[in-house]
Amino acid sequence: MSLLERINEVHNQLKKDLSNVQKTFQSVEDLRLKYIGKKGIIPALFRDFGTLGPNEKRDVGKDLNTLKKSAEEGIQIITDKLSGSDHVDSGFDHTLPGFPFKPGHLHPVTQTMNRICDIFREMGFGTEFGPEVETDFNNFQALNFPPNHPARDMQDTFFIEDNILLRTHTSPIQIRTMMKQKPPIRILAPGRVYRNEAINPRSYCVFHQVEGLYVDENVTFAELKVTIEMFAKKFFGKDVKLRFRPSFFPFTEPSAEVDVSCIICGGSGCRLCKHTGWLEIMGCGMVDPNVFKACGIDPEKYTGYAFGMGPERIALLKYGIDDIRLLYEGDIRFLEQF
Ligand code: PHE
Repeated sequence: MSLLERINEVHNQLKKDLSNVQKTFQSVEDLRLKYIGKKGIIPALFRDFGTLGPNEKRDVGKDLNTLKKSAEEGIQIITDKLSGSDHVDSGFDHTLPGFPFKPGHLHPVTQTMNRICDIFREMGFGTEFGPEVETDFNNFQALNFPPNHPARDMQDTFFIEDNILLRTHTSPIQIRTMMKQKPPIRILAPGRVYRNEAINPRSYCVFHQVEGLYVDENVTFAELKVTIEMFAKKFFGKDVKLRFRPSFFPFTEPSAEVDVSCIICGGSGCRLCKHTGWLEIMGCGMVDPNVFKACGIDPEKYTGYAFGMGPERIALLKYGIDDIRLLYEGDIRFLEQF
């Protein structure tokens, strides 16, 4: 075999060796010794090269040098990779800090609900939950909505079966609690509710409510008023003013709707309060004796108050958001602001 053929053969073997070598310093060192170490293949080829005449040297020299360069460079590249120095060569600085990623936070409605619950918890209210799929009895009948009563039209209902529905308010939790627990009862009941309403900037088919219920002997409307007033001052600030307007709910008598002085203009009139100076935040009233009767509680012995508010509405007011649908789109650019 001529020297030129041997050089070719060694070059092919080198290529195979370079691509198959184990990525450890020891294997690369073995490879270096095999090819370019003093006793390696390439120096041996150079020795044979020295014995050639000048014409042959011209033909063979170029290929032999190329082989030597391939071996040196191939081994250097693998060594650099192993020691990590190839990264520095690429110009990328691995010590740079990574991209920061933003921690998430609670949804503005959740934040509002938590704040409401915290304030009432400080006043001694416990927490109760109920299912979102309810019976007609708990959602309506026990709350003094007789069958076919027009008051049912106040709350457009998603029915699942004849007597099974998606609760339209958190008031059925009043019923569940009074059924299982004797007075004194002092609970807050947050939860999701559903209404089959046209979707627009003011209303959505799913939203939340926070319900309150207090039942004991001699509970009065005056207590309801101070409790709500304490809550409103803690939530909106101590300068807020309150207004109780007579209203109607089948399950409370008397009933009222509560307004707070507008949190934007303070009562002088602006776009948010539609120039009335007031914002409605909840419904409330004294528990109707019929509700007590449906739950087996003696209305001669006990009285109580109940209230219900919508955290979405309160969040819209608090943050000056003019479209309730924004709360349900999950758009991170919107949510990031809270
Ligand atoms: N459940 C009533 C509603 O959804 C609110 C309410 C609760 C009113 C408790 C009075 C007492 O509109």
